[in-house]
Amino acid sequence: MASEFAHRPVLLQESIGYLNLKPGGVVVDGTLGGGGHAEAILEGIAPNGLLVGFDLDPDALAAATERLVGFGDRVRTVNASFRDLVPCLAELGIEGVDGVLLDLGVSSFQLDTAGRGFRFGGTAEETAATPLDMRMDPTRGETAADLLRRASEARLQETFQNYGELPGSKRLARAIVEARREAPLETAADLLRVIQEARVGGGRRHHPATRVFQALRIAVNDELGALREGLDAAVTVLRPGGRVVVISYHSMEDRVVKNHFRDAAKGCTCPPRTPVCVCGGSVTLKVVTRRPVVPADEESAANPRARSAHLRAAERVAAGGATA
Ligand SMILES: C[S@@+](CC[C@H](N)C(=O)[O-])C[C@H]1O[C@@H](n2cnc3c(N)ncnc32)[C@H](O)[C@@H]1O
Repeated sequence: MASEFAHRPVLLQESIGYLNLKPGGVVVDGTLGGGGHAEAILEGIAPNGLLVGFDLDPDALAAATERLVGFGDRVRTVNASFRDLVPCLAELGIEGVDGVLLDLGVSSFQLDTAGRGFRFGGTAEETAATPLDMRMDPTRGETAADLLRRASEARLQETFQNYGELPGSKRLARAIVEARREAPLETAADLLRVIQEARVGGGRRHHPATRVFQALRIAVNDELGALREGLDAAVTVLRPGGRVVVISYHSMEDRVVKNHFRDAAKGCTCPPRTPVCVCGGSVTLKVVTRRPVVPADEESAANPRARSAHLRAAERVAAGGATA
């Protein structure tokens, strides 16, 4: 499996630097993937640090386990979402950690495996053989085909609008509802046909299907909900001085991270003119990256997946820490 699992870690040096690793540290990689970041983390916390790697995808866990076998019992893997960090770490008897990395989205391996249904490229035969699945964990939950079959027209429109910022969301939702009266949409080819018939655009930089597939993937995996809960969980499990580092790949994710860090660094989130704080919020994070860190030109040239990457980092402050 590991030999087939091609995924080049994005912003590797930068994420390791911002995690501020120390020998003997306990670090969570919430998105283990092929284990590229995890390997560098394990080297950074050598000789006795512990890495706990989460992934929803059993194939990713198998590939990463094989890659990291040389680190022995310094690696623990968990087949769960990073949104469940708190109970999963408690089950392992781990009370606090020094770092949390979230490298969001799908791996190149998932994108390139046609059977997973994340991509729409290829020949007519290939797209006709690509099921509309898109689950990170292919053993659980609703597939994209299920969603396209069951969702109301209004929910479809909201999905394309909110998660794909798609011009023509309404038109596409209507076209899907009409098409599925004839036959369910089961493959990438079925969906591509409807996208073409509805004549929705992807903007000048994208294939029209890019935003549609992105929106469905985000909805199927509740990616933004998982991210919000994962960030809350990271704050709960980090020890003071510990760092959370997040690499996101589209503006919706980056916005969630930016706003979460900003609110956690401010503490009180009451509206500006509220005379006395009623939210009871306290400062939990200090933002380390004022602006998102983006890949150097050489990395973007060598790895197209890196082009949209934005890294943000924040540090856990002790309870009652000063307002930033
Ligand atoms: C971009 S890849 C990570 C690549 C990894 N950093 C590496 O160096 O190989 C993202 C991985 O996170 C997993 N993933 C996405 N959302 C997740 C979630 N909520 N919980 C756990 N794993 C998740 C995906 O299955 C995928 O394997």
